[in-house]
Amino acid sequence: MSKALTYLAKTRPEAASSLLDFYKHSVKSLDDKTRYLIQIVTKVTVGTERGLRQYAPKALNAGASREEILDAVLMAFPAAGLNKVLDAIDIMREMDLLPEAPNTDSVVAEEQSLGMLERFPMQRMQCVQRAGGDLIVYRTQADAVVVYSARCPHSKANLCRGTDHGTQVECRVHNWTFDLATGTCLQPLGGSGLQMVPSVVRDGQIFLEA
Ligand code: FES
Repeated sequence: MSKALTYLAKTRPEAASSLLDFYKHSVKSLDDKTRYLIQIVTKVTVGTERGLRQYAPKALNAGASREEILDAVLMAFPAAGLNKVLDAIDIMREMDLLPEAPNTDSVVAEEQSLGMLERFPMQRMQCVQRAGGDLIVYRTQADAVVVYSARCPHSKANLCRGTDHGTQVECRVHNWTFDLATGTCLQPLGGSGLQMVPSVVRDGQIFLEA
């Protein structure tokens, strides 16, 4: 429930409970995923960023794919117009809730090489784009190199678009946080850790191990 509804429930309990009853009883036949996808269409149409940020992750959690979320955003176009749709796409991309565009940027030239070690400052998360999926490269305080898949183990968001806290990275979608030296999930405790990708440093370069 939004903060505004919580406030209304306290200050105007009769009005708020009628409103909430309406929501509860008016939609009986749609499953959660369909309901949240329709919510996305309505939020884009009226241009409410907060509502979009609230319901789009719910659609993902209810089983919608990123393609379906993009479809829902685009379905709003006839009523919302181009600008609202483009604004929604910006928000959804920032939250990593849309399918990735085909990667036309240059990927690492040599298939197994991630580049020279000196390109990667110590204790700073660095992302490497690769056709097979982005990677996170991290040099620990003890100068060991660790490489991880950038896919969040929770729901596959791209952690390269997460928040870099220096020795930790926080996923933007549901805020899971990972220790970059070990890949351990710190928040929530007991969550799955980052998937490590075997690598080796040879002749001053970082290579993926076959
Ligand atoms: S996708 Fe849920 S925390 Fe990353």
